Amino acid sequence: MSSHHVCPWWFAYTFDNPLRKLFHKPATMLGDYVHEGMIVMDVGCGMGYFTLGMAELVGNEGKVVAVDLQQEMLDIMQKRATKKGLLHRIVPVLAEPDSINHNAPVDFILAFWMVHETPDPESFFRQAAALLKFSAKLFYAEPAFHVSLERYREILTAAEKSGLAVSKEPAVRFSHAALLEKVV
Ligand SMILES: C[S@@+](CC[C@H](N)C(=O)[O-])C[C@H]1O[C@@H](n2cnc3c(N)ncnc32)[C@H](O)[C@@H]1O
Repeated sequence: MSSHHVCPWWFAYTFDNPLRKLFHKPATMLGDYVHEGMIVMDVGCGMGYFTLGMAELVGNEGKVVAVDLQQEMLDIMQKRATKKGLLHRIVPVLAEPDSINHNAPVDFILAFWMVHETPDPESFFRQAAALLKFSAKLFYAEPAFHVSLERYREILTAAEKSGLAVSKEPAVRFSHAALLEKVV
């Protein structure tokens, strides 16, 4: 069973703070998968920590589709993007609990610390896989302090039933993480 309790927008300040760049470095974590000119998605983008990091990686020809359930998160993300001069590279999308609400294909998806909040991870991964081009990657991570290893493994099984295969499990601080590849 998923708890699908959604992280309140104000709680995100506890982990999305200036210290975060010491242990979650977007360019180091994602630089092998996100390149200039790509259209990538940050689903469950929150306040946009990785949205902004990926906006730097995709350059002026690329786009980051930043999806969240909470308008407050999208508003804060857009304010941060404006301050960094990156807003023109970002497409904000307001999701619904059981719908990503986006149909156009993307080259890469990041789902960081959010799948456990969705009501049905298998349905979530099916939608995500449908957006990915063949052999494109989805980087999935859960907070280890909140999601047990057993629950993470159950969610990975749901991903595998949705046309995604685990290609590796990268080390990410405070997280369980997997790099998934679209295989069907
Ligand atoms: C713990 S926060 C992580 C935010 C961000 N990924 C980060 O690492 O800073 C989880 C985010 O996922 C969003 N979320 C939860 N369920 C969602 C869903 N079904 N669709 C889109 N976003 C969702 C929440 O609103 C929240 O902003």
